[in-house]
Amino acid sequence: TEETLVLVKPDGVARGLTGTILGRIEAKGYALVDIRLVEPDRDVLAAHYAEHEGKPFYEPLIEFMMSGPSVAIRLAGDRVIEGFRSLAGTTDPTTAAPGTIRGDFGRDWGLKVQQNLVHGSDSPESAARELSIWFG
Ligand code: GTP
Ligand code: MG
Repeated sequence: TEETLVLVKPDGVARGLTGTILGRIEAKGYALVDIRLVEPDRDVLAAHYAEHEGKPFYEPLIEFMMSGPSVAIRLAGDRVIEGFRSLAGTTDPTTAAPGTIRGDFGRDWGLKVQQNLVHGSDSPESAARELSIWFG
């Protein structure tokens, strides 16, 4: 088995989509190992998004992620890293495929950051690193 970090980002929580997103995750068959409502500070987000430091969308991304609570989920299952990213869809919500979380519920809102509802770790190394940031 394998574990991944999923975040329902502030836009997903604010729009009341947490239950819908959890429903898709559960329907796919993955197991919730831990879940919590979090209000990350800048230090947590700087650690989480270290790979994006210096990019034009970095500061808007950090501000967006501090704009309200997120839901952090420790998710388990065989190939769950790949599987959740497939459920989430591609990064840009305007063009993410229908049937995915981002494709069905996301769009651009004229801001400097892509508000794309969810995060999912992209590799076993990222998952281990991110799970320790969000769950200790
Ligand atoms: P996560 O699961 O959130 O990590 O998304 P991802 O792996 O599909 O994207 P990535 O890690 O490359 O980027 C992290 C986040 O930064 C994205 O989810 C977007 O919110 C934002 N982002 C990434 N690339 C761009 C971009 O080119 N423009 C803008 N405006 N935002 C971006
Ligand atoms: Mg990423």
